[in-house]
Amino acid sequence: MSEETKTSLNRREFFSFLAVGWITFGAATAGMASLIFRFLYPNVVFEPAMDFIAGFPDDYAEGVDERWKNGFGVWIYKKDGRLVAMSNICTHLGCIPTWLPAESKFKCPCHGSGYYPNGINFEGPAPRPLERFKILRNPEGKIIVDKTKVFRYEKGEWNNDGAYIDV
Ligand code: FES
Repeated sequence: MSEETKTSLNRREFFSFLAVGWITFGAATAGMASLIFRFLYPNVVFEPAMDFIAGFPDDYAEGVDERWKNGFGVWIYKKDGRLVAMSNICTHLGCIPTWLPAESKFKCPCHGSGYYPNGINFEGPAPRPLERFKILRNPEGKIIVDKTKVFRYEKGEWNNDGAYIDV
């Protein structure tokens, strides 16, 4: 190999190393920039809205309605001219019970608590009935469920204003 070829190779290697160096530097800088951006960006948890419009009272048949269970964690229960909004959180340790229409009860899969359709607990370790949320009508007559206000049976709150609507 001649001296000239050696020099040419060295030069080529030099530029290859230079290119690799710039690429590595660029990647490291981009990585750091993305970490800094992520650090500065607020950590936001997107949770379902705390209130929602649930249609008209006439949209509901007698009994338990599950249409808002997945989106808002609420069962609507209509019985004897009253409509209530029940939480779908088990009062034992917070699992999500399942509505079993054939047995007319809610059954919690975690430790076996059972609730009647009105939310009263009757079996298993649940210490109290399902909670109810504030329910009212807007000026158009539509139902509004407001989950920021809770009504508890054991505190005698289920007959309070806002705990139900007459239909
Ligand atoms: S969380 Fe429902 S029974 Fe334990």
